[in-house]
Amino acid sequence: MIHYHKLGTVPPKHHVTHYEDGKLLMEQCMTRLGFDGTYSILYYRTPPTDEFAVSAMEIPGFCPISPIAEQPIHRRHIRTQDLKVEGDFLTARRTILMNDDIRIGICKPNKPPQNFFSNGDGDECWFAYSGGGRIESVYGILPFKKHDYVIIPKGTPYRLHAEGDSGTFLLFESSTYIDVPKQFRNQTGQITMHAPYCHRDFRMPTEPLRYDKARHGEAPFPHVVKFGNRLTVHEYGHFPWDVAGWDGVVYPVAFNIHDYQPRTGTIHLPPTTHITFAGRGFVICSFVPRKVDYYDSNGVKAIPCPYGHASVDCDEILYYVEGNFTSRKGIESQSISLHPMGVPHGPHPGTYEKSVGAERTSELAVMCDTFKPLLLTDVARTIEDEDYHYTWVKRQNTPMETSK
Ligand SMILES: [Fe+2]
Repeated sequence: MIHYHKLGTVPPKHHVTHYEDGKLLMEQCMTRLGFDGTYSILYYRTPPTDEFAVSAMEIPGFCPISPIAEQPIHRRHIRTQDLKVEGDFLTARRTILMNDDIRIGICKPNKPPQNFFSNGDGDECWFAYSGGGRIESVYGILPFKKHDYVIIPKGTPYRLHAEGDSGTFLLFESSTYIDVPKQFRNQTGQITMHAPYCHRDFRMPTEPLRYDKARHGEAPFPHVVKFGNRLTVHEYGHFPWDVAGWDGVVYPVAFNIHDYQPRTGTIHLPPTTHITFAGRGFVICSFVPRKVDYYDSNGVKAIPCPYGHASVDCDEILYYVEGNFTSRKGIESQSISLHPMGVPHGPHPGTYEKSVGAERTSELAVMCDTFKPLLLTDVARTIEDEDYHYTWVKRQNTPMETSK
């Protein structure tokens, strides 16, 4: 996904014998786009095909999921800070917004991870709002920390351990891939010098995953697979993710949002200047603390606050992490705003004027623009601030005002 990497032992060529303690290891090729895309080759101690039972599973609010029926188009505010859930990295997930290309959810684990999981629909991108932890996967152990993005490739069996068995995560589930945008790659795939990050900013698994009875328990070992809005549990009589080594370019990576190198212009740059990752039908952008726009000539100054806009081909969500959200009032940390295509939005009254002459912003936020409309789920409806659409105007006798 980022660059070639090798961990553990691999033989000198593809598809040749590779022994460990006299036992022939089972080669497993993880390929994308059929056999034409990126790939990694893993060497399993026991074939990953030796399962003995298959059953179905459901996680209400996550899978299966469908949007609510009635959805008038207006600006929305989803208070994910009010979401209360129980479970581990898999069972404490809830999907908030969805379309054919991406599902956007929140995960708040408060228990240690149980089953391994792989998402057969597409890549996942986790953003660690709080706390750190580690990913255990067939590609090894990947430590992560607060404010990291962690990208898990489609089909990767993994578990997420949050420090202290608790944390809060924003979660993007793609229907396809999540990767460095094409414009930040040169013809060889190397990240270009004008990209907002470099290869050194991406961290990869540090050691192979070895079976540990104390940590992983005893058989049966369930493996939960998501595909097509269904969860299926495959049970194994042996620990099936014990890999002696692998190499290739498909594997989980971590990238900290504070390693993102933001851009500032003489005048305000469009929000997609802050693009970080991209997939089919969406982009993920990082708003990090930075100097703001500085045009100043003959008394005419830049307005650092975003201009009003109706981005008629995109829905836009912002997940607010910390700092001053200069263009918004009533928004708090962990809030998600949804500004749908076709409906204008912009800074809240007063924030526009106040930003003139400002030199820095401390805001930290994650944005996602989607090219298909996002639909709310029933979980989103339970934590929605229904007055948000009207917070740009002062009105008489509105539900917003009478409720305060
Ligand atoms: Fe916007």
